[in-house]
Amino acid sequence: MRKNIVAGNWKMNNDLSQTESLISDLKSQVQTSNAEVMIAPTFVNLWHAFEALRQDSIEVVAQNMHFADNGAYTGEVSAEMLKSLGIKTVILGHSERRAYFNETDESLAKKVDQALQHGMRVIFCFGEELQDRKAGNQETVVKSQLVNALCHLDADAYKNIVLAYEPVWAIGTGETATPEQAQDMHAFIRSLFKERYNNDVADNLSILYGGSVKPNNAKEIFGKPDVDGGLIGGASLKAEDFFAIVNAF
Ligand code: 13P
Repeated sequence: MRKNIVAGNWKMNNDLSQTESLISDLKSQVQTSNAEVMIAPTFVNLWHAFEALRQDSIEVVAQNMHFADNGAYTGEVSAEMLKSLGIKTVILGHSERRAYFNETDESLAKKVDQALQHGMRVIFCFGEELQDRKAGNQETVVKSQLVNALCHLDADAYKNIVLAYEPVWAIGTGETATPEQAQDMHAFIRSLFKERYNNDVADNLSILYGGSVKPNNAKEIFGKPDVDGGLIGGASLKAEDFFAIVNAF
């Protein structure tokens, strides 16, 4: 059975005291939920967040990592470093990493391999830009992102992969894909994995939607049969909004 997941991607927000304060708000609101709940703070506050949430059900995950084991990669963070903190999950391929830090399908394939070799779980992000959607090319773009970065993996690897469809035009814009647009794309993605692998891989793959998910639209989006949760940006920075979204399941 695939899992429902709601993950808050804090991006480059929250210094140490803001991290402490948001975590304390999150802890005061934690309830049993029908979804796995995660937050992804900035690297510098990962250890602090991990320690603060050690006894809680919220998993602390990383926003990125490098594909090499170690070495002369100034400013980068390795899988081993993350694991040594206790971090078990990493977000890879976010469109902001692709757009501003030149991440490509090829470099992402290497990152995915590195994370899986280290026994980590990957939340793999992908999604089309506005011009792709306007031209009706969204499925072609998404298929090539997925095939190029993931389809060299064997079926067993998908136990540690979560997909996050994030149409670029819906990120931070207040413009959300309609629940139908999200469902259509998620169903397309699931059928792609059915075709490339088998029913088992496709049926057990959690596919999250990301892009302006808010308390007032989460229920409708998560209610679609192929949407298994969300990757939340702006609304994850307020505990109340984040839990309203978590509780939409
Ligand atoms: P917003 O929810 O702010 O649109 O961001 C979505 C996102 O990029 C999550 O990774």
